[in-house]
Amino acid sequence: MLSGRHILLGVTGGVAAYKAAYLARRLVEQGAEVRVIMTEAAERFVGRQTFAAITGNPVEQHLFDGSTVSPHTDLARWADLVVVAPATANLLGRLANGLATDLLTNTLLATTAPVVLAPAMHTEMWEHPATQRNVGVLRADGHELVGPDSGELAGGDVGPGRLAEPEAIVAVVEKLLEHG
Ligand SMILES: Cc1cc2nc3c(=O)[nH]c(=O)nc-3n(C[C@H](O)[C@H](O)[C@H](O)COP(=O)(O)O)c2cc1C
Repeated sequence: MLSGRHILLGVTGGVAAYKAAYLARRLVEQGAEVRVIMTEAAERFVGRQTFAAITGNPVEQHLFDGSTVSPHTDLARWADLVVVAPATANLLGRLANGLATDLLTNTLLATTAPVVLAPAMHTEMWEHPATQRNVGVLRADGHELVGPDSGELAGGDVGPGRLAEPEAIVAVVEKLLEHG
């Protein structure tokens, strides 16, 4: 159970963004308070109202001109855990290199909470040396990676790159929070 725990869900711009809505729902069902940051690209795949309705909180998207003066530090401190699902190759690359170019990456750099990354992308992108190098850096930095699974991808291709099942992501979130 995640009663009373503050989970910040980052959603980036991949086809699997629609599955993040189900993940948000599962986290809420477990008793967590969930807030969502979407990247601009994520909004091309799924609407922010979906997450607002599921979590009961407005979706955060902007570093500037948001509802608070310093949304990235506020959200970073609010979170007991940050989970990014799906995490694009772009997000992995930016985080691995310490780039803070939007609200999500600024928050990821500003938080001291555990970070769970659930990558999802086409097999070629996942297996690219740059992505694998970034994944190695992120693991060495202490981030927890879940998946990707191997299976059918958007467009009918089959291989590694599929978003881990939401239940598997929730299980990792629970395990990390149980262990403090
Ligand atoms: C139809 C379509 C599907 C995409 N799916 C993925 C994906 O599954 N994984 C990924 O890493 N990038 C995917 N991309 C590319 C990202 O949307 C692109 O790299 C974007 O800049 C990511 O921005 P973000 O990381 O800020 O969300 C896709 C692009 C398009 C047009």
